[in-house]
This record gives sequence, C-alpha cells and structure tokens, in this order.
Amino acid sequence: MEFYEVINNRKTVREFEDEPIPTQIIERIIAAAFKAPTNDHMRDWHFIIVRDKNVTAKLLDIIPKGISDDDMEALIKDWNLSDILQQECYRNAVPKQYRMLFDASAIIIPLLKQKTDILHPDNISHLNGFASIWCSIENIFLSVTAEGYGCNLRVPLGNEEEYARDVLGFPNDYFMPCFIGIGKPKSDVAPVKQKEINIKERIHWDKF
Ligand SMILES: Cc1cc2nc3c(=O)[nH]c(=O)nc-3n(C[C@H](O)[C@H](O)[C@H](O)COP(=O)(O)O)c2cc1C
Repeated sequence: MEFYEVINNRKTVREFEDEPIPTQIIERIIAAAFKAPTNDHMRDWHFIIVRDKNVTAKLLDIIPKGISDDDMEALIKDWNLSDILQQECYRNAVPKQYRMLFDASAIIIPLLKQKTDILHPDNISHLNGFASIWCSIENIFLSVTAEGYGCNLRVPLGNEEEYARDVLGFPNDYFMPCFIGIGKPKSDVAPVKQKEINIKERIHWDKF
C-alpha cells in the first residue's frame, strides 16, 4: 500500500472477523513500532501480545461489557459533549469497549519504562517517554493498516492498569498506556463518520 493510502485507510476498527493474524505479521508490526522516534535513545519498550482467549477473558474481565442507554446519555451530558457528530462517535464506541478487544485476534499491550510520576510531571519533558511510546503506537496502527488488518485502542480507566499488571505479570516500573485490539475488520461495518476538517483553516503561515 502506498504511504498516503495507508494514512487515509487507517480507521478505528471495533468489529472483527474470527480470523487469526500470522505471527510473522505481528512481528513486522512490532518491528515498525521500534522505528518510532524516541526521547532518550533507549526505546525501552516491551509489547505483550495476548492471543490466548483464556488470558484475554481474564485481562478484560474488569472492563464493562456494555452500557445502558440512560447511562450513555448521562455520560454525554457529564462530558459536555455538544457536537452531534462527536456524540455519535461516543455512542458508537462506548458500548463496544469490551467486545472490540475480546473479538480482536490479538491484543497488544505496549509498555514503557517510566522513571518519574507520570501523573505529576515536574515539567513537560517528564512526559517525553510517554510521548515516544505514542509515536510507536501510531507506527503500529499504520503498519496494521498496511498489512490489511485493523485496530482499535482503549486507554485504561480506574484500576485497569494495575489489574492488567497482575494478570500479565509486567514489572512495576513499566507503564501501560493502552490496550490495542487488532484483527481482520468485518467487511460489512462502515467506519464511524468523523468530523470534516478544513485543513486550510488549520494551517497558519508565519503567524496564527
Ligand atoms: C489518546 C487516544 C485515546 C483513545 N481512547 C479510546 C478509548 O478508550 N476507547 C476507544 O474505543 N477509542 C479510543 N480512541 C480512538 C478514538 O475514538 C478514535 O481514534 C476517534 O474516534 C477517531 O476515529 P478514527 O481512529 O477512526 O479516525 C482513542 C484515541 C486516542 C488517540
């Protein structure tokens, strides 16, 4: 796939076919992750690939399996989501948080070594490691797309990270930014409509 085709084809996928991803392809995707820029030249990252459905079920047991319509509407109100398209995106995504990971062929758990308290950084550079792993996550998304697969992500809420640490056994000094579900996209599901951005309004030449 040509580069801009990959960029344009990458969309969050929350419905998957029941089809495994070959190990070789997963290895290529993780190799792409390691090509991302890094703040400290160390790329002290690890990626746990969960494919065993027993482990998957245990790992995801803490994630709500759905949401009632009333709770969904309360959440939209709570978060002050006034944009209709944005509301639709959340109405589509929130109820699928469990299934989009459970039905994925594999879950990737990226890990970075975090030396300072990520929730209380002294300055912006204390977040450089976190920013770097997100560069690697974008490489994963693009590589998954180029390989003809699709992916989604969930940022852990509440104690989901601590729970994942227990289930997967990763060390205390490694931090988990998200869950990534990957698999073959279901062909009959259209992507969620996104807000159209007028690029010309967002580019500022020489001055805002
Ligand atoms: C930092 C970040 C956090 C996100 N958290 C979640 C999440 O917790 N659950 C989810 O389903 N999608 C999550 N997403 C995916 C967004 O919902 C998705 O990227 C957005 O709707 C745009 O759609 P697209 O990826 O198809 O372009 C997150 C994306 C980013 C960049």
